[in-house]
Amino acid sequence: MRFGTFAGLGGIGATALVALTALGTLVIAGPAPTPNLAALKAAAPAPAATIIADAAAAATTAPAAAPPAPAQIPYTDPPPPSAAQQAAEAAKVEALKKIIPTLDYQRARYYPLHFKPAIDTASNGECLACHAEILGKNVRETSPAGVKAQASLAWYQTLATYDGAQMTFHQRHMVSDYAKAVMNLNCTFCHQSVDPREKNPGFTVTDADMTSNNGKEPFTLRKTVNPSETCLRCHGAMPDPVNIMGLPGPFPEVRKDLESADTPNACLACHQDAVRTNRHNVTYLNAATIEDLAKEGSDVCYGCHGGRAWYRISYPYPRHPWPAMDMTTTPDWAKGRSASSDPRYQRPAGQ
Ligand code: HEC
Ligand code: HEC
Ligand code: HEC
Ligand code: HEC
Ligand code: HEC
Repeated sequence: MRFGTFAGLGGIGATALVALTALGTLVIAGPAPTPNLAALKAAAPAPAATIIADAAAAATTAPAAAPPAPAQIPYTDPPPPSAAQQAAEAAKVEALKKIIPTLDYQRARYYPLHFKPAIDTASNGECLACHAEILGKNVRETSPAGVKAQASLAWYQTLATYDGAQMTFHQRHMVSDYAKAVMNLNCTFCHQSVDPREKNPGFTVTDADMTSNNGKEPFTLRKTVNPSETCLRCHGAMPDPVNIMGLPGPFPEVRKDLESADTPNACLACHQDAVRTNRHNVTYLNAATIEDLAKEGSDVCYGCHGGRAWYRISYPYPRHPWPAMDMTTTPDWAKGRSASSDPRYQRPAGQ
């Protein structure tokens, strides 16, 4: 991967410091050295004697106890499937491979695995048993009009994270080195049902799923997947850099003042210790690897939060409480935000 393209832009300039100081969040919160420990201590049951002693001490010295700070959730990648899960999946693929030769085109096209409820538990291996071309087919080296793929470069391919030869859309989300490092997408993350006829939600969508799209209508007809619950999460505009984050302007303009060889990722100036530090704890993201790679440059964070934006709006992210959070007020823009990730992607407790 080609990181480190921002070297040589100079240290944090005076303008940048003023901007950051004006912000407040950064200064007030500052680096919180052991939020984890503090929160754990607050949550841990204390022996009775200590409570009495503490209460006595509190009565004389400490002011009224503030609500306990939320704990910092450590960044971890979801574990790979266990041997038992892999064996179960392999057995299902083998069974499917025996059925495939008995199906004609229509029966394969309407195969129950395409629809609810079977699609909810379908594995990549089962989809690929019929759709091997989805990952196996490569882009043409030369277009029919003679343009060489390697000679054309889209703007998003200039991001420091973009690597290697041109690939298809499916390959870039499932098998590119970068995709495998930062995420963990299954076919069914995007394809939550496959209606080959009408692409009509009534045909395949259960009542329970009718509430899925941030409380709005869940589907747009004639789309293969629901973009507001898939693409938008990683290809939306950067959430308002001025009014939400308190940056002095759009990120591509202000990053020059904030980033240097020593601080290659301006996002982490605020997002390392101070704000919204509980994040990415979902089955389809590799939370720990994201943080590791992000130390080398902000294109890792910005890539999914504005750098490869196909939309002008941003995804309304859940707002997980974090250790340094001000628990007493909620900014207007954040009213109505969920405090936890979409249940479909929450990781089982203890993982
Ligand atoms: C038994 C074989 C089989 C299995 C298993 C299978 N498919 Fe299909 N699928 C087909 C066939 C055949 C078509 C029709 C292809 C065509 O007309 O070009 C199709 C079509 C599709 C389409 C295109 C529908 C459209 O809008 O035109 C998508 C998307 C799709 N499948 C996704 C999946 C996913 C995701 C899985 C796993 C959950 C899966 N398929 C499992 C055989 C299968
Ligand atoms: C990041 C989201 C995403 C993932 C993950 C994904 N797909 Fe797709 N897939 C799409 C979209 C969007 C389209 C529609 C593309 C278009 O219309 O050109 C599509 C189209 C298809 C089609 C229709 C044929 C075609 O080439 O247009 C098939 C079949 C398909 N996907 C199967 C799969 C299988 C099998 C997997 C898992 C190995 C998978 N997809 C993973 C988003 C995804
Ligand atoms: C979980 C995050 C995530 C989701 C969801 C997602 N993408 Fe992406 N997308 C990425 C990442 C990361 C890359 C860069 C991959 C790389 O550089 O190898 C990317 C790259 C792309 C590219 C550039 C591909 C290329 O060959 O240069 C396109 C186009 C794209 N995504 C479209 C979509 C669409 C359309 C959807 C919804 C169907 C979608 N993405 C859903 C994370 C995501
Ligand atoms: C100057 C400090 C600062 C910088 C630099 C910064 N952010 Fe933020 N960011 C914030 C604050 C403050 C919030 C809102 C916190 C809250 O929920 O009250 C926020 C919120 C967010 C959110 C959630 C928005 C939502 O709608 O829920 C995302 C995603 C985000 N930042 C990503 C980034 C990325 C990526 C970068 C670097 C490209 C970045 N931030 C740089 C301060 C900053
Ligand atoms: C592969 C794409 C990807 C990368 C890389 C990425 N994010 Fe995210 N980020 C997401 C998605 C998807 C969500 C929503 C997760 C959820 O629903 O809980 C999210 C959520 C967030 C949130 C909201 C946190 C909350 O309260 O739940 C913040 C803040 C954020 N990201 C900042 C960052 C920062 C900072 C970086 C770099 C260190 C980064 N992101 C890198 C995809 C990405």
